[in-house]
Amino acid sequence: MKTAIAFRYVKKKMYLYYFAIGGNAFIDIPMFDKKIYRARREKLRQSLQGGIVLFPGNPEVPCNYAGNTYPFRQDSNFLYFFGLQKPDMYGLIDLDADKDFLYADDLTMDDIIWMGHLPSVSEMASEVGISETAPVSELKSLLHQAVLSRRKIHFVAPYNMQVAQQMSEWMGIAVARLKESQSVELIKAISEQRSVKGKEELAEIEIAMDIAYKMHTTAMRMCKPGTHEYKICGTMEGIALQHHGSMSFAPIVSMNGQTLHNHNHSNLLKEGRMMVADVGAEAHSNYCSDITRTTPVGGKFSTRQKEIYEIVLKANTSVIETLKPGLPYRDYHIAACKIIAQGLKDLGLMKGDVEQAVQEGAHAMFMPHGLGHMMGLDVHDMENMGENLFGYDDEIKRSDQFGLSYLRLGRRLQPGFVLTVEPGIYFIPALIDLWKSKDKFTQYINYDKVEAYKDFGGIRIEDDVLITEKGGKLLGQPIPKTVAEVEEACARTE
Ligand code: GLY
Ligand code: MN
Repeated sequence: MKTAIAFRYVKKKMYLYYFAIGGNAFIDIPMFDKKIYRARREKLRQSLQGGIVLFPGNPEVPCNYAGNTYPFRQDSNFLYFFGLQKPDMYGLIDLDADKDFLYADDLTMDDIIWMGHLPSVSEMASEVGISETAPVSELKSLLHQAVLSRRKIHFVAPYNMQVAQQMSEWMGIAVARLKESQSVELIKAISEQRSVKGKEELAEIEIAMDIAYKMHTTAMRMCKPGTHEYKICGTMEGIALQHHGSMSFAPIVSMNGQTLHNHNHSNLLKEGRMMVADVGAEAHSNYCSDITRTTPVGGKFSTRQKEIYEIVLKANTSVIETLKPGLPYRDYHIAACKIIAQGLKDLGLMKGDVEQAVQEGAHAMFMPHGLGHMMGLDVHDMENMGENLFGYDDEIKRSDQFGLSYLRLGRRLQPGFVLTVEPGIYFIPALIDLWKSKDKFTQYINYDKVEAYKDFGGIRIEDDVLITEKGGKLLGQPIPKTVAEVEEACARTE
């Protein structure tokens, strides 16, 4: 891998020249060869009927004032089809003329003075197989003409307000109406393509997995009473940065794991609690990993913790062992919920008929989220395009039942999908109190016993899996996961 990267750098002498003279935050070489970007655009072209396809790249986003920005993150669709990492670029595919265009402005002298030099727009475009370039002002008139002549403009509704305002102005569509004008045909075509990962993408995901391995094994070693959550969280982020990566989403490192997305890292870890670390990395290419491990503070599970942990572990491993193409992921979600309900019944926390309890949704008090989601260039891959359009289909529709309704991926699996498997059991005091006060599912839940677990917290175990013709393939080096493995990892000194 290192040799391949070195070769790419040597090959691109023009970029090297700009590195040599001082660099620029946006000088990154496209991750893949131009043939890959050309082939991706060609495939998309084959799936669409006519008109133009607009791919706005992301601008920089101000944090507290315009000049102080969040770290730049390119839009994933732009990155997938146009591969360039610079802000304020627009890709365009003209389906009728069979041509691709890049619209962007060359640097001004002020830009060069403050940010450094960059190759010209046409040089950058050529790196991703595009020969037609023009300044952004020309895109404005092209779109204006397209609207006047009623050409179909395919686009995905933007999530970034600056992009939304720009598109609204250029196409004469109110910001609030962009969503209803987006191209469902385009979204379906993109998601068909992006759902099935190529080998060059899997290699990048493996880099993100390697970083996650280092982050999580380090967190296990640090999970000791008297350590602040932020120290562990910061160390994990530092590992991502040290490997030329970043975080794939806001990290969850908390001994209050019963709060599913807990971004507060202020607590001092206490004996008797467990720390949920749901943390993933983005490789420098922006491909992601998403891993959760639950570690007992001090390195030894209590009997009560172990009993719940083993149930979650069984749900995680049974699903991974049985994954295969052709079956709906919704069925795996339900299978995991049955394992959880049966395990809780064995401990006396649930009762009655397990099948019926899961069908009615009683288990969701303990597992109120979905089993997993697709992962790739986004940690929740393609979520900006609306999960119902790619996570579900005409055959499998999203349920509105509490718990199952949060499942992001329900449809049948195909070889090449990369997804997460992340069952959990949580004791959420406010939810327990609410359901108990309403006598909800008293035939399935032993509230008296559950009361004693209100100080328990939560457990989640998450892995990332590739669907192959043969079954599910765990990605990355296995990260300690059984009780014995986690305890052993906690005891290590390095
Ligand atoms: N790992 C965070 C999530 O999947 O929502
Ligand atoms: Mn996840």
